[in-house]
Amino acid sequence: MSARGAARWTRGHPWIFRSDVISAPEHPGLVRVLDDQGRFLGQALHSPRSEIRLRLLERSERKVDAAWWKEALGLAAARRGRIDATAYRLVHGEGDGLPSLIADRYDRWVVLQLLSAGLETMRADIVDAVRLLTSAEGVLLRNDVAVRRREGLPEQVEVAYGSVPERIEVCEGEVRYYAAPWSGQKTGAFVDQRPARLRAGALAPLGGRALDAFSYHGSFALHLARKSATVLALDVSAEALARGKEHAALNGFSNIEWREADAFEALRAFERGRERFDLVVLDPPAFAKSRAAVPKALRGYQEINLRAMRILAPGGVLLTASCSYHVGRSEFEQMLRAAAADSGRRVVLREWLTQGIDHPELLTVPETGYLKGAVLTVGR
Ligand SMILES: C[S@@+](CC[C@H](N)C(=O)[O-])C[C@H]1O[C@@H](n2cnc3c(N)ncnc32)[C@H](O)[C@@H]1O
Repeated sequence: MSARGAARWTRGHPWIFRSDVISAPEHPGLVRVLDDQGRFLGQALHSPRSEIRLRLLERSERKVDAAWWKEALGLAAARRGRIDATAYRLVHGEGDGLPSLIADRYDRWVVLQLLSAGLETMRADIVDAVRLLTSAEGVLLRNDVAVRRREGLPEQVEVAYGSVPERIEVCEGEVRYYAAPWSGQKTGAFVDQRPARLRAGALAPLGGRALDAFSYHGSFALHLARKSATVLALDVSAEALARGKEHAALNGFSNIEWREADAFEALRAFERGRERFDLVVLDPPAFAKSRAAVPKALRGYQEINLRAMRILAPGGVLLTASCSYHVGRSEFEQMLRAAAADSGRRVVLREWLTQGIDHPELLTVPETGYLKGAVLTVGR
């Protein structure tokens, strides 16, 4: 590997690109990596077809086997501490020093994503380690992810161990919902927004009117419904909303209205109709899937945040988020400042929201951080 590649590792980033690899085997797997002087640097996952050719896994010569994986997963589990939910991320890839591995725990089951060709060769050891560490009844591989194509890997969903049900009941704080590990978005639910959802539940004004504008299967709406008089949950996916209705029944809530709608249009109509809400949640999909898409994405974020600010009742709360990796914290903040300036309201920043402890963001690996949010209130 080139001196430039070695310097990258020294500075704490595990990826080495094709241009920094001097020679490598043809096959994927775990490789010993030497610098341009022949000195041992560590062991890395090797992906012969990917732009990211090497991902640092182990700095020593220690054998990477099922016992190694069990220890690594045990350390990741210990880092999480106590989490007030039965669904959370057990391994956040590079953030946990285990590049290209995602493991989400849903009660007695675990869903894995193996996102590199090098990691795929270690599948049996990883599944064994997960089984031993978690005593999971089943392990599902949700490998239907587009990035696998760049690695020359097939996109598949399959059981790796035991059996995994179509839906799993999850407890999150005081509410319950079903995750859909086989077919739901990501690995079956958006476990990353758990802390923000709990926060939204705590902030919901008693007896107020709340709006969850990009609701998916109602995960924010459920937390809001515990205290609000009424909650309006919007999403473009009828299928997600149908599951939301089941969640409301599971929790015994009858104060959530489920509406299939485009949130952009709905927010515009609420503003025109002078409707008022005491709390609004904006948790849209990633508007910027690439750096080139950022300007358009920021216009989209600004529009929905502006409208949300305008439809809040005096003293109302806006919980707003972005999961676009390409929209950084400062761009998100600038967007909120611009929306506030256009809104004609007095908007106060109450708190910033970041990823939970189960999604560790490594400062030397910017790619591990993508989720950001804020809690704002509008003046009386
Ligand atoms: C990031 S997810 C929301 C996750 C959810 N808040 C949770 O915590 O589980 C974004 C959701 O927005 C929905 N969506 C995408 N475009 C939309 C639009 N224009 N209007 C309303 N919903 C939309 C998607 O169907 C998806 O369910």
